[in-house]
Amino acid sequence: MKVLIKSDAARAVDCVAGLIVARLQRLPTSVLGLATGGTMEAVYARLIAAHREGAVSFARARSFNLDEYVGLAPDHPCSYWRYMREHLFDRVDFPPGATLLPRGDAPDPEAEAQRYEAAIVAAGDIGLQLLGLGTNGHIGFNEPTSSLSSLTRIKTLTRSTRAANARFFDRPEDVPRLAITMGIGTILRAQEVILLACGPAKAEAAAALIEGPLAAACPASALQLHRKVTVVLDQAAASRLALRDYYEEVHPGGDAASI
Ligand code: F6R
Repeated sequence: MKVLIKSDAARAVDCVAGLIVARLQRLPTSVLGLATGGTMEAVYARLIAAHREGAVSFARARSFNLDEYVGLAPDHPCSYWRYMREHLFDRVDFPPGATLLPRGDAPDPEAEAQRYEAAIVAAGDIGLQLLGLGTNGHIGFNEPTSSLSSLTRIKTLTRSTRAANARFFDRPEDVPRLAITMGIGTILRAQEVILLACGPAKAEAAAALIEGPLAAACPASALQLHRKVTVVLDQAAASRLALRDYYEEVHPGGDAASI
């Protein structure tokens, strides 16, 4: 696991956007795994800017998002479909039909989850998976105690996740209780994973992910099993790491290239 510690959130975001751009330049037909949430908004803004500058094209790429709320149709203002259209898809050059999310309004959500998993397999699995981190250690909507080999399925959101995401809804009681999420096993099949976490609220989960025991209590700790993971943190999110000096010695300034 590569742990890159940046001096602030803006530099952490630049680093992640730069890694995604570099991958697309190297492998334009990449299958991207995408996340939503507050942390990713700045990453997508950087990708849009890079696209406008001519540095990157998504014209040959495809994407699968991690998750969607059960019960929200794609045009619902709080759906992740809507989030992705507003923050990325409508503003870069993905071809029509190349960007997929689970259908939150599918009549049979469990069947939809299985269909989505099969679509990921049929695409040859994810090339580069982008992840945020829940304050409780979730990745996607794999909440604590999720099976570490789980596939795409329905998960019940914890109270803490619903409270954290209430800011995107008019009323806290509007946050759905269920979501369709890629499983931890689905995520672990990706060729490469980049996780971004910023701010003091993520410090405990980041320490559990990187240094804690491999445990369903912190779903992100499953990334310890993956061969190619880069975790990008700002100073605040790195503040609880016991081996912080070591990571900063291996990657001074959080430079991905230094060994
Ligand atoms: C959303 C997702 C979640 C978020 C996580 C952090 O698609 O996969 O795991 O990445 O909840 O969210 P923010 O960035 O809002 O703190």
